[in-house]
Amino acid sequence: MNELEAAANLLRQGELVAIPTETVYGLAANAFNEEAVLNIYKTKNRPHFNPLIIHSNSVQRFAEWGIYLPELALKLASKFSPGPITFVVPTSNIVPDMVTAGHDSVAIRIPNHPLTLELLAMLDFPLAAPSANPSTFVSPTSAAHVKQQLGDKIKCILDGGECKVGIESTIVSFLESTPRILRYGGLAKEQIESTLGIKVNVPQVSGDTSKIIAPGMMERHYAPNKKLIICNDIKKEILNYKGLSIGSISFTKKLDDIECKNQFILSPSGSLDKAARHLFSALRSLNDLDVDIILAEKFPDEGLGIAINDRLKRASVH
Ligand code: TXA
Ligand code: MG
Repeated sequence: MNELEAAANLLRQGELVAIPTETVYGLAANAFNEEAVLNIYKTKNRPHFNPLIIHSNSVQRFAEWGIYLPELALKLASKFSPGPITFVVPTSNIVPDMVTAGHDSVAIRIPNHPLTLELLAMLDFPLAAPSANPSTFVSPTSAAHVKQQLGDKIKCILDGGECKVGIESTIVSFLESTPRILRYGGLAKEQIESTLGIKVNVPQVSGDTSKIIAPGMMERHYAPNKKLIICNDIKKEILNYKGLSIGSISFTKKLDDIECKNQFILSPSGSLDKAARHLFSALRSLNDLDVDIILAEKFPDEGLGIAINDRLKRASVH
């Protein structure tokens, strides 16, 4: 039996399998098996009010399960799916409350990874899959990251190499007449707007950080166990932390005052796509290194820079 068949069998039996996607690794279970889905929440230590994305390999298959994309969503899907976009649409009776956390909407996605697309085609159910990290920690972009944190809790990790996008999917809700981005991610807002020919709404921010006004809006997230500070100019900020061991995340620049091994330059050539790809592994490495504090540069607020800034902001909440 090959690896994919073994993974498919485990999923059919209600077990969890970590799957590669182009964004981040997911912790997958049969979305129609409530007990299996419950096990995802337990394994990740995820709060039950935070719903899950379900994954399959085509828009048609979702339609067979009674989940339909409205016209604008279809326009985006025909261009970007499989790819790093998740659609929030009205749910279907077939989807357990355990997946939607009782909401009347469901989040669906067609991930763009050859192994996982093949796996999804073998199954007669969709896979519920959050990122394969303990809740609030940084998402995994390699099989080794998953093994490090959840290796003793899951029977199978499908190794599909390093994630090419490296940051989670962009979540777009189609519940209002104008689509609304709920989470910035691997597909840039500009690409969504130019495809639709309209401006989309952006995430609503809650002033009260103890409340989640919409799912997907948890303030503290992607957090390493170190204090992270976002700055416009790292060189100036360093002066405030004399005597401390500093780690840094910068876009293109090398910094003279920080030890080389503690510096993570996400894309020397200035590509925001490459920077997004390397962000989470940099956060992980800094978490493991002997640094007292992490200084991160604010990225340009365009393209995937918006998603990078969003993740840095959440990582900086302690
Ligand atoms: O790239 C991704 O999206 C990855 C890979 C594995 O596909 N998955 C991922 O899942 O990031 P997770 O669970 O870490 O994040 C899913 C987000 C959560 O913030 C959740 O609140 C939101 O999607 N979400 C799920 N269902 C929703 C719904 N019905 N309405 C609004 N937000 C929803
Ligand atoms: Mg996550």
